[in-house]
Amino acid sequence: MVLSEFQIVPATPDMLPDILTLEEACFSSPWTRKMLEVELTSNQFAHFLVARHQEESATQAEPTIIGYHCFWIVFEELRLMNLAVRESMRRRGVGRALVTEALRLGLEQAATRAVLEVRASNNPARSLYTRIGFVQISSRAHYYTNPVEDAVLMEMNPLVISSGRQRDRGFTLGGESASTDLL
Ligand SMILES: CC(C)(COP(=O)(O)OP(=O)(O)OC[C@H]1O[C@@H](n2cnc3c(N)ncnc32)[C@H](O)[C@@H]1OP(=O)(O)O)[C@@H](O)C(=O)NCCC(=O)NCCS
Repeated sequence: MVLSEFQIVPATPDMLPDILTLEEACFSSPWTRKMLEVELTSNQFAHFLVARHQEESATQAEPTIIGYHCFWIVFEELRLMNLAVRESMRRRGVGRALVTEALRLGLEQAATRAVLEVRASNNPARSLYTRIGFVQISSRAHYYTNPVEDAVLMEMNPLVISSGRQRDRGFTLGGESASTDLL
């Protein structure tokens, strides 16, 4: 199998089964199908992006979803809600690209700050958010269940897109070329 560059596109309802599979593989308390469906179809504040690539083989030509990001833009606030990347595709810049595209859309819609909650023990996610420019502002004791754990609240205020260099991995945003070098 040859992996092409990944692309980031808005999620559509037909992607729900693949998104649910990824959700259930990535979280101990996954969102249900209904919760995902509401975010995809009827929450006016919600935005839903997927990262996908083309598996170029004789038997499969359909794009495969390798990550997704659900976030809300509520007036001046961008709220990161749920982010996941398929385990076999991690550390390739997919998570960072999904968050950066959310920041870009937030800025486009005049958001001025971004916020999120993350499990205290989730070092990969905390590293990603810190790398992008979020800082810890507080915590909430016993916020999560299964297992019970504190939440760390992180914020980016003002909302900006970091120009920090990272590995040269191209991807496309709805057909237009982009590169994590530029993000
Ligand atoms: C968190 C998650 C989305 C990161 O996705 P990813 O595509 O692997 O992240 P990226 O490749 O874009 O990483 C960007 C940067 O984040 C940091 N980072 C990401 N994963 C890391 C890890 N396992 N350990 C340390 N730093 C990490 C690094 O600084 C990395 O840059 P580098 O690879 O150049 O060092 C992914 O691990 C995941 O899906 N985890 C399970 C679901 C989850 O926890 N979601 C977040 C809920 S708040």
